[in-house]
Amino acid sequence: MTRSALMLSRRRFLASATATAVSTAVLARPLRATAQTAPRALRYPELIDATQSRRITLTAAPGRSDFDAMTDVATAGFNAAYLGPVLRLSRGETEIALENAMAEEISAHWHGLIVPGEVDGGPHQPVAPGTTWKVVLPIAQDPAPLWFHSHIHGRTGPQVYAGLAGMMQIADGRDGERGLPTAHGVDDLPIILQDKRFDDTGEAVYNPSMHDRMMGFLGNAMVVNGQVGATAVVPPGLIRLRLLNGSNARIYDLHMRSGQPLMMIASDGGFLPAPVALDRLLLGPGERAEVLIDLTGAPGDSLLSGMVDNSMMGIGIGEPFEVLPFVTDASLGAGVDRLPEVLGGTLPSFDTAGTILRRIALDTGGMGGGMMSGMMGHGPHGINGRAYEMDRIDFTLKQGEVQRWRIEALSMMHPFHVHGVQFQVLSENGAPPAPRNLGWKDTVLVSGMAEIAMRFVAPAPDHAPYMYHCHILEHEDGGMMGQFAVS
Ligand code: C2O
Ligand code: CU
Ligand code: CU
Repeated sequence: MTRSALMLSRRRFLASATATAVSTAVLARPLRATAQTAPRALRYPELIDATQSRRITLTAAPGRSDFDAMTDVATAGFNAAYLGPVLRLSRGETEIALENAMAEEISAHWHGLIVPGEVDGGPHQPVAPGTTWKVVLPIAQDPAPLWFHSHIHGRTGPQVYAGLAGMMQIADGRDGERGLPTAHGVDDLPIILQDKRFDDTGEAVYNPSMHDRMMGFLGNAMVVNGQVGATAVVPPGLIRLRLLNGSNARIYDLHMRSGQPLMMIASDGGFLPAPVALDRLLLGPGERAEVLIDLTGAPGDSLLSGMVDNSMMGIGIGEPFEVLPFVTDASLGAGVDRLPEVLGGTLPSFDTAGTILRRIALDTGGMGGGMMSGMMGHGPHGINGRAYEMDRIDFTLKQGEVQRWRIEALSMMHPFHVHGVQFQVLSENGAPPAPRNLGWKDTVLVSGMAEIAMRFVAPAPDHAPYMYHCHILEHEDGGMMGQFAVS
């Protein structure tokens, strides 16, 4: 029996053992099955370092991927059958040419990049099939772990699920001086976390039910960098994980099997002043974090996640599942063996005295009274009682002014994202923010209430506004999004 046939028969058994594949408890099972097969080495997306060339060409095209274990699945990617390359950029201008070889409109939104609305790549900059979008990105921000993905209104969920997403790194060439691991794919690892829902034939079709549209589309298998059941083979030293939650809806509660802490070095918007030790790292869809783990003198360890039940706002429920096992291989050489003491990043601290508070209530249809009759025609979700509309600007802000927003997520956790800015989390439910939320952020997982502060430096005219939305893609596509101009 081939490995995939074996996987498949196990999967078939699992599928028949459960009535529906929706329960989050299913996620752990295919993972145990894969652990019994011979370990396959995790691969990493190609690195395109454009810090010298200042130019990148991306082609979005359909592909097929077997996720290294399942049957052939129809996917899409940028310059690849699934997902895209890691784009490394630095301060200054970089020209990107995005060619659309898909049969539908797509876009490339630079999530976390502080650039004018006109080049932000959101729903107002669609790229028609067969055409090329040329854009110059004026980069003026510090090193940060960003990402890019398609962002067509109503289609972001299916397109990102298919694979139209990739990682982006703003770099300044000084990570060596910071004492950080820098060997791409050796001790400096892009880790794209996604879950996929494979059916009993091995297909992973995106077909959200009404329940999925309400709660988010969850998978039943863990996929890392487009692979199921892979193991990261790493040198026995400090390993840098550039974590991206690129899942449509799954929230991860990350921790190490050995109990060693995750040493967080960067959040969405860049480096922290110094590493922060976390026993658990909660990472919602759209969020990134860079962490160091220490495999010095250890044969291996494993990155695990607790089950998060968003309908109950429950975290760490039941048995954890394996996200990514590590094994060390001394022949890969010795990398960094000492944890850096300082990283040189800053913590945001806005002076919010005298600012007006803007309330942003995230309404989940059918729950907590959020469903307004006016929202019905557009989608089941909304913000402040209204579903997103492409030709309605929800508000206009002044460039340079400090803004303070209160985000309300009363019936579910929502990862709230704002375009064109990095913000400060001022408080969560009236208390100081969790340690993981102290740095610069562009997406924050809100459970209850959070207050954020920010200043927009780039303009966004009415014809190219910035988005603010929940990053559970079924919520975003279902109307939990708004847009604003900055002038
Ligand atoms: Cu990651 Cu509006 O998007
Ligand atoms: Cu964004
Ligand atoms: Cu949401």
